[in-house]
Amino acid sequence: MTNKYMYFIANWKMFGDLRTLNSLDSVIKFSKNNKNSKFRIVYCPPNTLIRPLSKRLKKTNLEVGAQNCHENENYGAYTGHVNSKMLKNVGAKYVILGHSENRQSGETDKLINLKIKSAIKSNLKVIFCIGETLSEKRKKRTNKVLAQQITSGLKSIKNTSNIIIAYEPVWSIGTGLIPKPNDLSNSISFIKSKFRKKTPKVLYGGSVNNKNITEIKDINVIDGFLIGGASQSSKKFIDIIKKTFN
Ligand code: PGA
Repeated sequence: MTNKYMYFIANWKMFGDLRTLNSLDSVIKFSKNNKNSKFRIVYCPPNTLIRPLSKRLKKTNLEVGAQNCHENENYGAYTGHVNSKMLKNVGAKYVILGHSENRQSGETDKLINLKIKSAIKSNLKVIFCIGETLSEKRKKRTNKVLAQQITSGLKSIKNTSNIIIAYEPVWSIGTGLIPKPNDLSNSISFIKSKFRKKTPKVLYGGSVNNKNITEIKDINVIDGFLIGGASQSSKKFIDIIKKTFN
């Protein structure tokens, strides 16, 4: 059983509409009934739901985040984009950056670094995703990849107090596969070892569900979970939190 403060971050990806928000009533109730428990819940819905969700969560302990932002925190002629200032303005407190689904569609380390800087300027907390692909894992390059993603993504960022790292092996996202507990513990410890001053919170993400949570919840270097698919079911999400503390 863990006794420390844990993050449970829901990444809804491109799912959810106004009606979906009703399903969060049970999570709100759960959080109210467990006020003294050591968890922090953050919902990262699509941008279309940030405002209505933040209104709905106003008097609760739940917080709202976004899933990406443009690298320019100022307004500009960027059709289809939203910047960190705009996200903050509608109620987001966090933003997920560097997610592998966005890396795969062309986001470079350099671009991610600019996005992180813009988010920090707008006073958003950053959930910075890193992780190796299956072929990198097979070539035993995991640590090399993680170190490189951290160095490039956080280049010339001195104050990392608003950064949370999410270790998400690309091969584990949406596949039902999770790392072996020992490998996971080593990777998270390795990530933490890269920070000399203040060690950030490091979460694990990738196929976390209400069954496999029991295999990884006791890895004491983990500070929480970034949950995709399973976070769309409030029942499963609550179950994951309950089991983490059991
Ligand atoms: P998953 O997604 O839990 O559905 O694997 C996690 C993520 O992409 O953040």
